[in-house]
Amino acid sequence: MRKRNQKESLHSKRRTFIKTTFLCSGAAILTGFPLVSYFIAPALKKATGKWVDFGAVEKLTPGSIEMLTYEFMVKDGWMVLPQRGFVWAKINKDQNIKVFSSTCTHLACNVIWQEESNQFICPCHSGRFDSNGKPVAGPPTKPLAMLKHKIEQDNLLVYLTF
Ligand code: FES
Repeated sequence: MRKRNQKESLHSKRRTFIKTTFLCSGAAILTGFPLVSYFIAPALKKATGKWVDFGAVEKLTPGSIEMLTYEFMVKDGWMVLPQRGFVWAKINKDQNIKVFSSTCTHLACNVIWQEESNQFICPCHSGRFDSNGKPVAGPPTKPLAMLKHKIEQDNLLVYLTF
């Protein structure tokens, strides 16, 4: 009789253990999936981009670094929102063009070209980049991103991601 009670008790414990494990697994899946998708999905979302026309190349001054501003509308779910910003175009004397992102590689503030110091200056933490976008002072360690660009029908087009 005693042995039988022990056996039943063992079965009962096993059943409780299996039930608890099953319920915990279900709860973990039900709460974990939304949490994981909330944090992971944005990282997996493909960046979209488009070619933006900045107008005639002949308007750019050789030997200068010029701010090129843009504004266009982007559809995000149900909303259509304006996308505004600027990039920096470096026009060499031989008409060779480099286009830099205005986003500082430290914490993403916008850098401004300062003619007097011949550097891009970041107002947030005093980061500085030379005229080729290389970091020369302050916290940034990576160069300014160079943007893909092309010339079509004498206009400068830059590929912007958002
Ligand atoms: S964001 Fe530019 S230096 Fe920090």
